[in-house]
Amino acid sequence: MDSTKRCRIRLDNLQLWPLRYRWRVNLEKSLAIDPELVFLESIDSTNLELGRLLAASSKPDLFAIVAAQQTSGKGRLDRTWVSEPESSISLSILLRPGDEMERRLIPLFIGSMVSGALSKMTRVTARVKWPNDVLIKDKKVCGILSELTEHGVIVGIGINVGKQEGAPETACSVSDFSQASFDDVLSEVLFQIRTGWTKWMVMSNEFALQVVRDSSSTIGSEVRAILPSGEEIIGTAVSIEPDGRLQIQGADLYQLSAADVWHLRN
Ligand code: BTN
Repeated sequence: MDSTKRCRIRLDNLQLWPLRYRWRVNLEKSLAIDPELVFLESIDSTNLELGRLLAASSKPDLFAIVAAQQTSGKGRLDRTWVSEPESSISLSILLRPGDEMERRLIPLFIGSMVSGALSKMTRVTARVKWPNDVLIKDKKVCGILSELTEHGVIVGIGINVGKQEGAPETACSVSDFSQASFDDVLSEVLFQIRTGWTKWMVMSNEFALQVVRDSSSTIGSEVRAILPSGEEIIGTAVSIEPDGRLQIQGADLYQLSAADVWHLRN
């Protein structure tokens, strides 16, 4: 863990405390949504840090930590995730699913909530590419890594807010479409997740599945999928199943639970 740059500021009440990073991080709006939010200027990974906090003491549902920089961010399929200061939001949230189906839908559902928040901030429709990349105009603006622990599901959300040095052509950032600040984006994301999760908890899993299907840019697309085994599948994505698996009609009917997916055309 990078202890030298680590600075945890826990805000126990609605006191408006302007937190300053080099990138003028001010959490005024976010604290109005989540007064318990823990802010870290720099950490190895917010998912790792939330895991460590949980090992030390229990935390409530929707407990969230956010960092302005990660030094060893984790991506899907054991990749690294670059989140430099002045360019990205790294957020991890604890969710406690009631059953196995809820657990499987969580990453997709949170992707839908983030896409709603980013659509609102940018006024451009953001959609979710299965399993849970949020895209704007077919470019990735956010990645989600969901990890199951004995205390619940840790959902890690990385959002490109500003332009990142050396970012690939396939990536975009909120700043390509909007002047929204770190605080604007974070507070809207927290609001959408809290509201959506609360609604899901009083409704059925069918509600969550519908939300997930409605926000998916993958359903209906011609796709190429590479499974963790290396096998390639080409076909039409026809549905997302109640357990979150992607159904592809190709040479056969396939149900994928993990894969890298490329949209060939819509
Ligand atoms: C991906 O697209 O591969 C998923 C990237 C997930 C990155 C986020 S940033 C906050 C949280 N902490 C991490 O170490 N990873 C996730």
